Amino acid sequence: MPFETIRIEDEGPIRVIAVDRPKVLNALSTQVLREIDAAVAAVPGDARVVILTGAGEKAFVAGADIAEMQGKSADEARGFSALGHAVGKRLERLDQVTIAAVNGFALGGGLELAMSCDLIYAAEHARLGQPEVNLGIIPGFGGTQRLARLVGPQLAREMIFTARMIDAPTAKARGLVCDVFPKAELLSAVKKIALEIAAKGPLAIAAAKMLVRKGAALDLDDANRLETETFGELFRSRDALEGITAYLEKRKADFTAS
Ligand code: HXC
Repeated sequence: MPFETIRIEDEGPIRVIAVDRPKVLNALSTQVLREIDAAVAAVPGDARVVILTGAGEKAFVAGADIAEMQGKSADEARGFSALGHAVGKRLERLDQVTIAAVNGFALGGGLELAMSCDLIYAAEHARLGQPEVNLGIIPGFGGTQRLARLVGPQLAREMIFTARMIDAPTAKARGLVCDVFPKAELLSAVKKIALEIAAKGPLAIAAAKMLVRKGAALDLDDANRLETETFGELFRSRDALEGITAYLEKRKADFTAS
């Protein structure tokens, strides 16, 4: 499927998906959301890490497309919100690791997109926020929920109620981003981390990702039971045998996702 609003580049086991509407700071229109959804659904099995970023110098994604939202009916707005949620859900359920490389503004739907990824890294100049209440609306792609889970309900309420943007070091201090890099180094630093992850056992990474996600919705006993069950199941895989044997033989493991 040819894409008009996103760009896809492969580099070994890394697939980079860049939202490519720099003139409007990569705002998320229905078309962009549909294209991201299709691109994530089409991530090949041998890609190990997906990096999401924004084209241009200024923005990751400055939010949902405000011009497109003007004049939406309640039903249309509900549909738009549901589409954003579907994209978030697809990213969260992807077996492969997803990383947001926040190379500038990550506002509203942009921050919500980033928070649907497994890891967020930001450039020093990045600014993050949920400014929807400035427009008389609320975060609608999961922001009220994912932000509260990431930074805690109080700081989430403050960011949403005040609509203030925070800088990258503050986002790091709050646990909203993993780390901050100089602007020019962000993508190469994130790719280096991606390669590190890509060298690990893919089934193990997918299982760990699933456990962190599912465990958040379970009580601790049930979540730990699921971990034990999954731990046992992984021992049916060739990769678990290979990883353990390689360690004992003091060689690099050759994982095959089997
Ligand atoms: C549409 C946008 C946009 C957006 C920026 N642009 N953000 N267009 N939707 N979210 C456009 C501007 O209109 C402008 O177009 C061009 O991009 C450059 O932006 P400027 O404002 O000139 O840049 P600057 O002065 O540097 O300010 C940057 C900014 C500001 C602080 C990021 O653009 C801004 O406040 N943008 C809106 C951020 C926002 O409110 N996001 C949340 C949206 S609601 P022209 O044609 O003038 O050059 C949301 C809801 C999600 O995300 C849930 C939905 C269900």
